[in-house]
Amino acid sequence: METAKQPTKVPHHLAIIMDGNGRWARSRGLPRLAGHQAGTENIRRIWEACVEHGIKILTLYAFSTENWGRPNAEVRGIMRILEQTIDRELPELHQNGVQLRHIGRLEGIAEGLRRKVREAIELTRHNDRIILSVAFNYGGRAEIVYAVRRIVETGVDPEQLDEALFSQYLYTAGLPDPDLIIRTAGELRVSNFLIWQSAYAEYYATPTYWPDFDEEELHKALLEYSRRERRFGLLSGD
Ligand code: IPE
Ligand code: IPE
Ligand code: MG
Repeated sequence: METAKQPTKVPHHLAIIMDGNGRWARSRGLPRLAGHQAGTENIRRIWEACVEHGIKILTLYAFSTENWGRPNAEVRGIMRILEQTIDRELPELHQNGVQLRHIGRLEGIAEGLRRKVREAIELTRHNDRIILSVAFNYGGRAEIVYAVRRIVETGVDPEQLDEALFSQYLYTAGLPDPDLIIRTAGELRVSNFLIWQSAYAEYYATPTYWPDFDEEELHKALLEYSRRERRFGLLSGD
């Protein structure tokens, strides 16, 4: 049985586009928000499984800059679910040595939620078992534009600007690039996620909706990753 096999290598940094909450709900005759609720509840089993596999950084795409364009009731519902999730999960995350981070913009988010995110980051900043980075109000293009703005504002010498320095102006400053990006729910697109950082990431897509993506699905993705040969533009065996 394939799941009896163990992956021979695991990504240091895994990123997941958690897609399919709405379709998961519809397939059960439930409102879309029930899908977002089930989706956020799924986060725990996946970070726990990542810790067991020895993955050191997990980035989750939770809400994009484009998602603001959805109906108001859905957007407000997602914000409420997120706030409740922080309240419910934070003590256990902290006890388990999870360091929480946020990538994206906190501006434009309601003050109450913003404060909770800041407090959660502050509380867990010295934890080092795994970094759980949540991409919320995140857009890859917005991130690049924001980086360029700050570079211009700071007056960086154009001659000094290289890829390494540019990376320090991104939300992900200090984090290594993702090695593997998983997208659930079957779409084969990037949807504005980590477009700079994913230059050499491996991609893996599964038709499984995010709320159903369990430890076994993760295991399957890691086995597939183990079989990939990353060449970074070089020749095999280099
Ligand atoms: C992903 O699930 C979560 C967010 C984008 C907030 P969707 O809400 O996109 O679910 P589908 O794609 O409509 O099934
Ligand atoms: C990507 O999913 C964003 C998140 C998972 C947060 P979307 O459902 O927003 O992406 P599209 O619309 O299918 O490209
Ligand atoms: Mg979607």
